[in-house]
Amino acid sequence: MKLLLGVTGSVAAKLTPKLVAAIRANDPGVELVVIATERGRYFFKRVEVDAEFKTDKDEWPEGGYLKGAPVPHIDLGEWADKLLIAPLTADTLSDMANGKADKFLTSTVLAWPREKPIVIAPAMNTRMWTNPLTRRNLQTVKEVYRIRVVKPINGNLACGTTGIGAMAKIDTIVAALAAR
Ligand SMILES: Cc1cc2nc3c(=O)[nH]c(=O)nc-3n(C[C@H](O)[C@H](O)[C@H](O)COP(=O)(O)O)c2cc1C
Repeated sequence: MKLLLGVTGSVAAKLTPKLVAAIRANDPGVELVVIATERGRYFFKRVEVDAEFKTDKDEWPEGGYLKGAPVPHIDLGEWADKLLIAPLTADTLSDMANGKADKFLTSTVLAWPREKPIVIAPAMNTRMWTNPLTRRNLQTVKEVYRIRVVKPINGNLACGTTGIGAMAKIDTIVAALAAR
């Protein structure tokens, strides 16, 4: 499988090295490219992630545009079989639902071939998760994309509270990825 992994700015992004290791353990032949948002990459060390790694800088490399240069947000959608976004923030979910494309990851999602599956693992504060705006955004992306939602679980959240909003367990995400 050719897998594109989007990582956004939830504290659960600190689990990215473990998530990548679990994906590889489950499918040793997997070809994996990670796109992290600027906020996402804040939470983990790139060197601990065993995958090709991209950030917004890869969309706009130094030196300016050269005619015929690759257009990564289009090319990656063509290349990948599946997109996993884990963790998915409320912010990036909102961007997806509203067709925003001002980050490498959200440009890739908007240009995503919609017959290809997307798995999302939202993670956020309980009030963000239960906010009607988030519910609406989730409903919208379900209507637009071939999407599987790996729901957040009850847990201790970064904000110091306990409640629904913690990213699902890595095993659950990997199982959802493998499911047809
Ligand atoms: C310490 C910390 C933890 C955060 N955790 C979350 C989170 O779990 N879920 C979420 O939706 N936003 C969280 N945020 C807020 C996002 O980082 C913020 O909305 C950001 O704009 C997300 O950008 P991105 O979606 O481009 O990665 C957190 C912010 C901080 C400072």
